[in-house]
Amino acid sequence: MKLWGGRFGKATDALVDDFNSSIRFDARMYRQDITGSMAHARMLGRVGVISEEDAALIVKTLGEILADIEAGKVAFAIDAEDIHMNVETILISRIGDVGKRLHTGRSRNDQVALDLRMYLKEETQDILGLLKELMGTLLDLAEQHTDTIMPGYTHLQKAQPITLAHHLMAYFEMFLRDAGRLSDAYRRMDVMPLGSGALAGTTYPLDRAYVAEQLGFADITHNSLDGVSDRDFVVELAAALSLIMMHLSRFSEELILWSSHEFSFVEMDDAYSTGSSIMPQKKNPDVAELIRGKTGRVYGHLMGILTVMKSLPLAYNKDMQEDKEGIFDAVDTVKLCLPVFIKMIATMTVKKENMLQGAKGGFTNATDLADYLVKKGVPFRESHAIVGRMVALALDKGKNLDEFTMDEFHACSDLIEEDIYDALSMETCVRDRKLIGGPNPERVKAEIAQGRKRMGEITCG
Ligand code: ARG
Repeated sequence: MKLWGGRFGKATDALVDDFNSSIRFDARMYRQDITGSMAHARMLGRVGVISEEDAALIVKTLGEILADIEAGKVAFAIDAEDIHMNVETILISRIGDVGKRLHTGRSRNDQVALDLRMYLKEETQDILGLLKELMGTLLDLAEQHTDTIMPGYTHLQKAQPITLAHHLMAYFEMFLRDAGRLSDAYRRMDVMPLGSGALAGTTYPLDRAYVAEQLGFADITHNSLDGVSDRDFVVELAAALSLIMMHLSRFSEELILWSSHEFSFVEMDDAYSTGSSIMPQKKNPDVAELIRGKTGRVYGHLMGILTVMKSLPLAYNKDMQEDKEGIFDAVDTVKLCLPVFIKMIATMTVKKENMLQGAKGGFTNATDLADYLVKKGVPFRESHAIVGRMVALALDKGKNLDEFTMDEFHACSDLIEEDIYDALSMETCVRDRKLIGGPNPERVKAEIAQGRKRMGEITCG
């Protein structure tokens, strides 16, 4: 018979048992469920709702059940519905009436809210750890490439020269914000809901603070209806994970472009590439492509949980059981992508010479030429027009701006002197952009050093 079977005249239809059951996907919260129950039992014993001996036996038996699950000795039952009732059923099968006292002053509604918060807190910490590894890898790579000049793009058209370090550090900033978002989401996850009961709290004198303390929660919920019906923390985590994937997918897209023959800026290691079953010459960036592709499912889970929660009346509704598969898959996907992405970028070969050649084409120093004239007193709009005409001329002549002869320069402006060649070199263009946030190598080195510190300051809990 079901744990809740008292008022029922019939057994549940097998179809409904299967339909209703969440054990297939919530079994993964067994450890949190058992740890939460241990804390609840200890508290019930301490406040005298059950005897200290009963509490001790429950805690001891739950520990044995945990060990048995971990040893693979426990088969969960579909008709016990979910992880909460599976654990409780096993407990009762082992210690009978004493086990039946565990669920006093508790509902599965506050229990599932507790378990999910505990589970996602751990996952959030893990993901923050992985993000930090990625950021560390980016800093290491950036350190090696503060002088590696490459073209920067807007509209995917060559714009101005930058360095690879500067480009990598743009991603560092994105992942640093992601880390901040995880830490922020964690703070609101770190609130203990037990004691909310089904929706209206309970008449037992529970010591909620003691439960929170045992489980390492920073705070307890302050409204029982909200305690059981809040899934904002799931949405927030899904949103933070979506942004991580968005950043990974933008990075992946660039690496895919950069490994094409047309760019040839990087080459992925053989161990992080795949071949074609028909074309013998192929080396494909499948890892980056798959990460780009998996972004879709994480976005989908964010939309899924938002849609499940939309318009739900207070408090708990069974719809909310649908919160788990999506967020679990989002977490799994991010945990799958980050380590492989880290290895992929750590092992790729950077083709510095191609990057430099790429930077030299496309008149990426045209702005610097205009700025050169501005420094000689020409208003910027006018120098912009002069250089525009010079670019048209250069296109005609089939040469770069820094390949003009002095005579050709003078035909365009008599303010131009010999020092123009230095002013237009890629090195100067990069070096002179030394404001905070710019690509100047010394500036970027300082940002890398700062980055290690900023990263270290972000924590969960
Ligand atoms: N398996 C359920 C869930 O995931 C647990 C809570 C069930 N509560 C209830 N009143 N049926 O949401």
